[in-house]
Amino acid sequence: MSGDTLTDLFQEGLKEMYYVENQLVDVLEELGEEVDHDGIEDAFREHKEETEEHVNRLEEVFDKIGESPEKKQVHALDGLVQDHHEFSDDDPEQNVLNLFDTAAAEKTEHLEIAAYGNLTFMADKLGHDEVADLLEANLREEEEALDKLKSLTEEYDVESVPA
Ligand SMILES: [Fe+2]
Ligand SMILES: [Fe+2]
Repeated sequence: MSGDTLTDLFQEGLKEMYYVENQLVDVLEELGEEVDHDGIEDAFREHKEETEEHVNRLEEVFDKIGESPEKKQVHALDGLVQDHHEFSDDDPEQNVLNLFDTAAAEKTEHLEIAAYGNLTFMADKLGHDEVADLLEANLREEEEALDKLKSLTEEYDVESVPA
């Protein structure tokens, strides 16, 4: 891309989120299998289903702007995934792993919220009203997922975690 216009920036951002959402479908599946806390596992499974819908909405967005869906690698997400693997490969205590995974998921939600906030703003500026609505629908679900994860962390039985 040339990077000369708001349209370029917008389309690059869409490609990045198409990469992120596709990766997160697999990541959330893996996290759901790794934790042993019912509430956290349910949150991961539920958000995995929402994430599949995020992929669908992005495909609709590409369609509406007359582009075919394309992915662009996001190193920030790859880094979070790598950090997770380094931590889990070290055979951590299960409660500690539950909390690590919840925090890791919160980090991905923050990344998505920042990205969708910007994409929604740009879609508005470019006059893509329906596209803005689709992106905002994803944004809302990321915000709800983040709130849910934060509550799960706050409600966690920390007495069960080795001090
Ligand atoms: Fe998402
Ligand atoms: Fe998300």
